[in-house]
Amino acid sequence: MADIKNNPYLAHMHDAMDEGAAYNNGSTSTKGTNSAFDALVPGKTTAAQQEAAEEALHNGLTGRSFSQKYKDILAKRRELPVNKQRQNFLDLIHNNQFVVLVGETGSGKTTQIPQYVVLDMLPQIEGKIIACTQPRRVAAMSVAQRVAEELDVKLGQEVGYSIRFEECTSSKTVLKYCTDGMLLREAMSDNMLSRYSAIILDEAHERTLNTDILMSLMKNIASKRRDIKVVVMSATLDSEKFQKYFNDAPLLTVPGRTFPVEIYYTPEPERDYLESAIKTALQIHATEPEGDILIFLTGEEEIEEACRLLRARGDDIIRSANCGPLLIVPLYSTLPPNMQQKIFEKAPEPRTKGGAPGRKIVVSTNVAETSLTIDGIVYVIDPGFSKQKVYNPRVRVESLLVSPISRAAAQQRAGRAGRTRPGKCFRLYTEKSYNNDLIEQTYPEILRSNLGSIVLQLKKLGINDLVHLDLMDPCAPEVLMRALELLHYLGALDDDANLTPIGHAISEFPIDPQLAKMIISAVEYGCTNEVLSIAAMLSVPNVFLRPREAQRAADMAKAEFAHMDGDHMTLLNVYHSYKSSSEPSQWCWDNFLQYRSLKSADNIREQLRRVAVKNNIPLLSNNFSSPEYYPKIRKALTAGYFMQVAHLERNGQYLTVKDNQIVLLHPSSVLERKPEWVIYNEFVLTKRHYIRTATEIKPEWLLEIAAHYYELSNFPPCEGKRILEKIALRNAIVQDEQERKKRKKEK
Ligand code: CDP
Ligand code: MG
Repeated sequence: MADIKNNPYLAHMHDAMDEGAAYNNGSTSTKGTNSAFDALVPGKTTAAQQEAAEEALHNGLTGRSFSQKYKDILAKRRELPVNKQRQNFLDLIHNNQFVVLVGETGSGKTTQIPQYVVLDMLPQIEGKIIACTQPRRVAAMSVAQRVAEELDVKLGQEVGYSIRFEECTSSKTVLKYCTDGMLLREAMSDNMLSRYSAIILDEAHERTLNTDILMSLMKNIASKRRDIKVVVMSATLDSEKFQKYFNDAPLLTVPGRTFPVEIYYTPEPERDYLESAIKTALQIHATEPEGDILIFLTGEEEIEEACRLLRARGDDIIRSANCGPLLIVPLYSTLPPNMQQKIFEKAPEPRTKGGAPGRKIVVSTNVAETSLTIDGIVYVIDPGFSKQKVYNPRVRVESLLVSPISRAAAQQRAGRAGRTRPGKCFRLYTEKSYNNDLIEQTYPEILRSNLGSIVLQLKKLGINDLVHLDLMDPCAPEVLMRALELLHYLGALDDDANLTPIGHAISEFPIDPQLAKMIISAVEYGCTNEVLSIAAMLSVPNVFLRPREAQRAADMAKAEFAHMDGDHMTLLNVYHSYKSSSEPSQWCWDNFLQYRSLKSADNIREQLRRVAVKNNIPLLSNNFSSPEYYPKIRKALTAGYFMQVAHLERNGQYLTVKDNQIVLLHPSSVLERKPEWVIYNEFVLTKRHYIRTATEIKPEWLLEIAAHYYELSNFPPCEGKRILEKIALRNAIVQDEQERKKRKKEK
């Protein structure tokens, strides 16, 4: 038999036959037209050989002949700037373990480079695969879809993706796009990432927390695994810093091809950037020549609102000003994949022959800044904001806050307009503001995140000395201390900061440590089933719809599910009703509920349930008619979230316990009656501080469940503290009494 190492084709012979492909037997495999990869020697390929394999009669990955669509796309791929650098790239990767690659957005980094690496390493021969990480889940999904098309394979087979709660890969997968968080999670169970022959860290300039940690991890792994290759890619990058960090790695710069972009500023600051963005877009449509528009907004709600307004007002101007038809498409992370693909559709045709041209308007989050390239964009509207993670370690609050972008980000956004021809960028802020108010670069996320989850993951990886972890930018000591403190209070770390059995269990769940602790604690209260449902519901976007034109009806529908104990139980009610509905999609529509979110919650619940079962966490429920049914669930919630408690002070204001922040119950809460003690799931930072998703608890539970945290002498004075002190005193007296009685009996 031929040497299997040099005959990659044999390696998937088996799979191909499983699929019923038309082979007579294995003997045709060594020679002949099917073996597209025959000329490739792993680790030694040339650009010419790779191109020949791409042009072969049959697909080396599947053994099938190539489709016409494949050939059409291949021609376009050959035009991409990175393809002209293929040989240079291969030379570098052959001779180095790390390569840093910088290239303009749209030059082909994300879609092409991983393919070059696959062809070069042929990881499938050794049963290995290549991973390419993305900071954003939409990008991972969308790019995987595109590359599957480019390689003429079915998404989820040879090319797949992996994002939290969604795995779309198979045993055949050789190239996987995944979020940086997912790869980090994998490293917890496979510390050397031994399944992978190469890791490509994309969008490194974003400096997400997960990518930063992965970079450090890869340095470590690479020093122990000489066979692994690491490519670090980005659109703009302080390349020297990256090169130096990766032991003086070589740099490959891919010259981009961009066209000039004219920048316009507003003369005065805009009060309402959403309104202003819509006006600008419609004005462009009415007055500017052909070309699609990209608007940057900050999140789902804003984007949907903008799309709605654009559709409504667009119809008016199309009629009155005789403009062309509009295609308006939203893009954000929780959009289902088929909707995400809509951004690549062509602008609509004119309504009549020779009529005004149609136009596409994409309304997107930051994901369109560098992660996804949409061809045909000529006009960019940049209000200058994005949602960014902020963390205040002093009050232990992490929140997504709409914040001004950096100048570097503004430049990237503008660049999107000059991809195919000269374009225009409309900045909805003043030039003075650009120069004076925007910061040069966004701070790396590691400096502005709650590190609880990451510290736990690192502990699991056996990395104990966090302070000396070789990070590109070390994390702030106070932030690190807070993380250790949180984990300690949750019982995940012992006094020597070692992982406890609870810590191990928590780290198994792909969710926040507090949420995981809540599930684990539910065993004690006999209600893991219910708490799993609540945890799943807390892991999806808002399920309650409240369309502007039907707010009253929506509120009434929600009231049907409202539970007097609070929002968590209300979510549980919704989930249970959803599960018992016979036509879930129609039922959701009738009840103003987001079907997509509920379906996703159901799926997440199943995954969490599996993690629970794997970790010997029993699935329990209490008797529904027992008066203890709901209190027990609330106690389990408290066991996870005892650090997020607010007390209603006599002046009618809620004050967070221990941190003494004034907060308001979010208007969406069902707790109109303002109970005295609540735990909350989320702290929302806006002009005012809100707590969202709240449930009533009893103060004595806090002392019972989290005595170590409620060491009251450490608490700043407030009414809540005084009440807790009284309870503690009463408890002490009762305990004394009991002990006295016991001693008396013994005598
Ligand atoms: O990663 P980078 O920004 O360098 O580029 P890319 O994402 O690899 O995209 C390269 C090119 O592929 C784009 O310029 C598009 O022309 C094309 N592409 C596409 O047509 N459809 C997609 N879904 C993704 C990429
Ligand atoms: Mg890219």
